[in-house]
Amino acid sequence: MPHILDGKKIAQNLKDQLKIEIENIKIKSKRVPGLAVIQIGNIAASSVYVKAKTKAAKEVGIDVIDHHLAESTNQNDLINLINQLNNNDDVNGILVQLPLPKTINEDLVLNSILPEKDADGFHPLNVGKLSISQKNDENLMIPCTPYGCLLLLRELNINLAGKNAVVIGRSNIVGKPMAQLLLKESCTVTTVHSKTQNIESICRNADILVAAIGKPEFVNRDWVKEGAIIIDVGINRIKVNDAKSKLVGDVMFDEVKDKCHAITPVPGGVGPMTIACLLRNTTIAFKKIKNLNRI
Ligand code: GUN
Repeated sequence: MPHILDGKKIAQNLKDQLKIEIENIKIKSKRVPGLAVIQIGNIAASSVYVKAKTKAAKEVGIDVIDHHLAESTNQNDLINLINQLNNNDDVNGILVQLPLPKTINEDLVLNSILPEKDADGFHPLNVGKLSISQKNDENLMIPCTPYGCLLLLRELNINLAGKNAVVIGRSNIVGKPMAQLLLKESCTVTTVHSKTQNIESICRNADILVAAIGKPEFVNRDWVKEGAIIIDVGINRIKVNDAKSKLVGDVMFDEVKDKCHAITPVPGGVGPMTIACLLRNTTIAFKKIKNLNRI
C-alpha cells in the first residue's frame, strides 16, 4: 500500500503550531502579524484560493487586510497601493494573487513589494537568496507551494540525498523554486518541460517526481518508476458530464498509486500546504520586522 500524503492533516498541524506561536507573540508584544491580500478581477480559481488563504490566516490569528480590485485597475494604482502597504507598519506580508490582467506587468508589480514583506517569496531578492543559500533556511521567504511540497517529502522521514528528483514544469511559482529546494536537499535534480525530448523516460528514472504542469492527468502509469514518490501540484477542474465537474491533479492517481512508495492526493495534498506555508512566511516576516526571533 502506498503512503497517501495527507496534506490536509499535515497543514493543520503546521497551522496549529503557528496559532500557538502567534498567541505567544501577542501576549509578549501586544501585536499580531498582518497580511494584505490583493486580488484583481474575478478569475474563479483565484477567488477560491484567496478565500481559502484569508480564512486560514484569520484562523491562526493573523490580521487580514483584503483588497479586491476591479479587473480594470491600472498598473500605477496597483503599485501605489503596494507602496502604501509597504509603508504600513501593521502589514507584515503582502500577497498579490496571480495571474494578473494582461494590461499589468507582473514583474514590475512583484518587484515593488518590499522583499521583507514578500509573503510569496517571488521578489527577485528572495528568489536570489533561495538560489545562493546553502540550506533550506527556515527564515528565507520561500515560495509557498514548493516549500509545502518539501514539507510533505520530509514527512516520509527518508534521506533525500542522492535521490533522482524530476520536476515537471519550469514556472517561477513552482518548478524553478522546487528544483532549488531539492538541490539543497542534495537530490540530483532534472527539470523537464514542454520542449524536453524523451520526457517519459526521464520521468521513469525519478525516485521523486514532482508534477507541476497544469495538465489534467498528464502523467500516467508508464511514466512512473516502481517505488517512486509522487508529488502532484496540479489542481485541474474537469467535466464529468454536463452537470458535474471534479478536481484532478496532473497525475492519474488511480492508475499510478499502486506503483509508488508515496503519493499526494488531489484535492487534499499540496493545496492545503501552500496555504499553511503562506501563513508561515507571514509569521516569519512579522518576527523579522519586529525582531521577535529572540522572544
Ligand atoms: N497563483 C497560483 N499560485 C499562486 C501563489 O502561490 N501565490 C500567488 N500570489 N498567486 C498564485
